[in-house]
Amino acid sequence: MLAGSLLLRPSSAFAAMMHPAATPANTLNASTLAEFVDPLPIPPVAKLSGTKALPSSPQTKLPYYRLAARPIEVKVHRDLKPTRFWSFGPSVPSPTLEMRQGEPVLVEWANELPQQHFLPIDHRLHGAEKSNPQVRIVSHLHGGRVPPESDGYPEDWYAPGKSVTYFYPNEQDAAMLWYHDHAMGINRLNIYAGLFGAALIRDKFEEGLNLPGGQYEVPLVIFDRLLTPEAQLYYPVSGKPEAPWVPELFGDAILVNGKLFPFLEVEPRKYRFRVLNGSNARFYHLSLHNGLPFHQIGTDQGLLPVPLTLTSLMLAPGERVDLVIDFSDSRGEQIVLNNDAFTVMQFRVSTNKVSDDSSLPKQLRPVPRIAESQAVKTRLLTLDEYLNLAGESMLMLLNASYWHDPISEKPALNSTEIWSFINPTDDTHPIHLHEVRFQILDRQHYEPWAYQTKKELHFLGPRVPPEPYETGWKDTVGAHSKMVTRIIVPFEGHPGRYVWHCHILEHEDNEMMRPYEIVRS
Ligand code: C2O
Ligand code: CU
Ligand code: CU
Repeated sequence: MLAGSLLLRPSSAFAAMMHPAATPANTLNASTLAEFVDPLPIPPVAKLSGTKALPSSPQTKLPYYRLAARPIEVKVHRDLKPTRFWSFGPSVPSPTLEMRQGEPVLVEWANELPQQHFLPIDHRLHGAEKSNPQVRIVSHLHGGRVPPESDGYPEDWYAPGKSVTYFYPNEQDAAMLWYHDHAMGINRLNIYAGLFGAALIRDKFEEGLNLPGGQYEVPLVIFDRLLTPEAQLYYPVSGKPEAPWVPELFGDAILVNGKLFPFLEVEPRKYRFRVLNGSNARFYHLSLHNGLPFHQIGTDQGLLPVPLTLTSLMLAPGERVDLVIDFSDSRGEQIVLNNDAFTVMQFRVSTNKVSDDSSLPKQLRPVPRIAESQAVKTRLLTLDEYLNLAGESMLMLLNASYWHDPISEKPALNSTEIWSFINPTDDTHPIHLHEVRFQILDRQHYEPWAYQTKKELHFLGPRVPPEPYETGWKDTVGAHSKMVTRIIVPFEGHPGRYVWHCHILEHEDNEMMRPYEIVRS
């Protein structure tokens, strides 16, 4: 339970004032750069390195990838010098893993990085102590149903010169997953450096839908960065040399597939966009400037039952959305994808006459709603933020527990539970559970003071159903400020120890992450 709380107090409305508002003075102002001068890059698809025996059964040979983390340089904009990143390939984001349901693969994740980190480590954070190597990595397949020993447990990190081989069974529905670093205490820095990429699982059902594919299916991996005037990655520090951690990173350079303000030439036809928010802390509110709709066909964990027509959507860090955009009535137009008032990228629709034999089916994949009565247990879990006397955010916890406190969440394998996230803070925290997929039941405002002082939940107002774009299977949910957010989770998959955490990476690195264990019943 919370130690040292004498110096800290739970967050109040005051916290909102403390959030960094402006771009630090010593950084490049991204808005001064020319827009739409670089074509949108498509990250390369990871190439097979051959086959390799499964450690547990040496006769079984599986397709095998070797992905090595190394320093690279990437031009993020025509008018900027190359930027140093760390990547599992030649690009940032790292190469896309293309996988199929029913076809397990092995991935060797190699650490070929230098001994020294180039971003500011906070040695007070759990796992980032001075006694540990500066450069440590461990990869996690976000959204993957993966045995615990291949899940990238945050303490399973390894130093340069080492590698691990993970087994991905791919026994789950088609979805856009992503892989990223998960090393305890420096995960925010490693992902910021570029150690992440998209991963797609495909299946027969989805292929039967005749959605736009091939060159008409495009990943859009969105992430923000701060750059120095020399176009190098800038990660801010608190100003206290012994405690450089900052509570959130917001960059003004919003990159799509590694470019600032890119353009994509499209034909007047349907396209499928696999969108991932790979940012440390930024949420995106996306829309097209001319009101052209998105047809949403999927969420984090795959297809929706039916397409939804939206003109805007919110995407929290870690979330994915699967969209079809139909440019057929936009011949010759230039359409800008915006994040509220900020430009993200541009689509340039050609004037060509094209035929489009892809479909946007009326029915996609059934997603049966899980009845609340299925749940054998409801857990009330608080999201806690602690401030120092100056009102600065110092620490974030889940259910007032530290990472190293004993495991308190032990759902039984194949049982269903409701997890209720009580959020007294002023921020939305995107909460992610490893190994499982879930559905959002609802959100409801509550009275924080009665809960804080007497642990009584007084609800204010009705239960709010999830937004249309959040229906379907999820693995990350925005737990909104001063609300109770309820999810229903079938704990299917593998028994063993996993983690759940806030996907704002600064929070995750400062104790807003907990182990949980799926136990054999
Ligand atoms: Cu994106 Cu612990 O994961
Ligand atoms: Cu994950
Ligand atoms: Cu958080």
